[in-house]
Amino acid sequence: MTPPYFRTSAHLLVCQHTNCRTRGSDLLYRALWNALDRERLAYFKTGGSVRLTESGCLGACTSGPVMCVYRQRDAAAGGSGGLEEAWYAATTLPLALRVARAAHEGTDLPTDGRYGP
Ligand code: FES
Repeated sequence: MTPPYFRTSAHLLVCQHTNCRTRGSDLLYRALWNALDRERLAYFKTGGSVRLTESGCLGACTSGPVMCVYRQRDAAAGGSGGLEEAWYAATTLPLALRVARAAHEGTDLPTDGRYGP
């Protein structure tokens, strides 16, 4: 039997390793999950498109909670036409939710708290 496939606009990963958890990443993950569900952004909601996953260490342990996002963005929408990635340090729920909304809407990702590419 073929498993169900859900098309997504973006994949968010929130680190749940030790250092990030001591900085509240477990609460961030659960609150973000509830917000994605409530705002119908989650991929399993009608019209939703954002996937959220717990991750292991993302390599910026002293700057947690760390979150990264991957999405495919067309050149016509302002992207490079390839895979876009963004990494966030000291991630708060309001910031994570703005990232999720931008990913869902296909707009520019927030720049505050962002590091890396
Ligand atoms: S513990 Fe989260 S980035 Fe390493």
